[in-house]
Amino acid sequence: MEKVGILVVSYGSRGAALADKLKRSEEYNVELYIVDRQRNPFNVRIAKEHVVIPDLDVNKIHNFVRHRKSKIDFGIVGPEKPIINGVRDLIEEESGIPLICPTKKYAIEASKVRQRKLFEKVVPKANPRFKVFSPKDYSSLNKVRLDLWKWLDELNNEAVVKPDKPAAGKGVGVWGDHFKTREELFEHFKANFQYGPVIVEEKLVGEESSFQCFCDGRRIVPLPETRDYKRAFEGDHGPNTGGMGSYKDSGNFLPFMRASDWEVEVNIAKKLFRYLSGEERNPGLIGVPFYLAFIHTAEGVKILENNSRPGDPEIINVLPILKDDFVEVCMSMIDGDLGRVNFERHATVVVYKVPPNYGGFIDAFPEKVDETEVGSPIDLSGTEDLKKRYGDKILFYPGSLELRDGAMYALRSRTICSVGVDRNIEGARRIAFEGIRAIKGGALWYRSDIASPEHISRSIERMRKIRVGIVHKEE
Ligand code: AMP
Ligand code: GLY
Repeated sequence: MEKVGILVVSYGSRGAALADKLKRSEEYNVELYIVDRQRNPFNVRIAKEHVVIPDLDVNKIHNFVRHRKSKIDFGIVGPEKPIINGVRDLIEEESGIPLICPTKKYAIEASKVRQRKLFEKVVPKANPRFKVFSPKDYSSLNKVRLDLWKWLDELNNEAVVKPDKPAAGKGVGVWGDHFKTREELFEHFKANFQYGPVIVEEKLVGEESSFQCFCDGRRIVPLPETRDYKRAFEGDHGPNTGGMGSYKDSGNFLPFMRASDWEVEVNIAKKLFRYLSGEERNPGLIGVPFYLAFIHTAEGVKILENNSRPGDPEIINVLPILKDDFVEVCMSMIDGDLGRVNFERHATVVVYKVPPNYGGFIDAFPEKVDETEVGSPIDLSGTEDLKKRYGDKILFYPGSLELRDGAMYALRSRTICSVGVDRNIEGARRIAFEGIRAIKGGALWYRSDIASPEHISRSIERMRKIRVGIVHKEE
């Protein structure tokens, strides 16, 4: 078998899932060079070389790559930070190694203002009403407050406040959830405004879904839709997180969606791609430049945001059921000749276990945390039996989990996910949760309603009501 050296820039379980799918190639003998945030036990085990660069600084990543130029054929990047900071431009220019991710110019995730303006121009129907408030336009907070109040009059206070830059200040705040008065909204606004422009947009009511596609610079190839569970606590309460889990149905779209919704989404992504790429092939747009967060409203499909990278956990729902050799898919993206991408007709469920104070859990539910377990090592021995029993229908991908002195310890972010694969969502869910229960130690916790029949029925029923106009903004 032909040997191929692949760089994986990893952050969390998504990086482990990408590395695993590459390593499973049946066409190539894959040697992985993994750049990681910490000593991820899974990645350490499967890598030919594993290096820790906690801040994922692009110059440090390049320094690792340039000393291995002759061994690395191409690379793939999971997290947004190095993509936004131009890791692809630097490594391709300096070392000539192709990377699968957009170039800095096409990493539109870098600015939510730029995204909203792009959507306004290219897919206006999918864009909510919005206004940008830039610190450079205002000499005092009182002046910005006056303008903001006028805009809130127009929106009937039903507003969402978003910083331009990913995760700046307090992040996204939603009327009714994160603030209930104008003064509270203004506090949230100011916490972001001190760092740069802030968008205040119409609050949309609907069910959310995540759309991703592979792109070879010539065309986009849609991946099956997934549903992320962003909120920390059961019943979609608590703060937004990176995602506590996600599901995918056996086909291309979700139980609460119609085939026509999916088609609208694909068309939106195609229009955005065509607008950015121009008529010719544009190699700046390879990888997953469009991971669009959609919301399905009474007025149709709207865009919440676009990310220029695979979703975590969303890509973990998709990779295990990819039938094609992932190394070949990657090479086709680089060469610009990506054709059909084939998937098993299976459902998948991803569930994360997270550390004691993720999402402020200890603060919210101190009684639910066993203090004696906090900080204890994570024990994965129970997962081995399940792997024997379920084979490829169960997968475990460590994320913010560190190998230290021969043991594994949870760090601050999502620790590890369990993935169930089966013919339908219920089956996949049962397997994923068996996996979750087999992970011991560290006082880790999880949301038990990920992909539950009740949660999914609620989404279907809510969507039905939204479509016939029973659910209004006041909900
Ligand atoms: P974002 O980072 O833009 O995807 O926002 C994070 C979360 O905030 C989304 O998953 C939604 O739940 C919520 N959100 C963002 N924008 C809106 C909006 N315009 N209307 C309602 N909810 C929103
Ligand atoms: N699941 C949310 C994200 O990847 O941004």
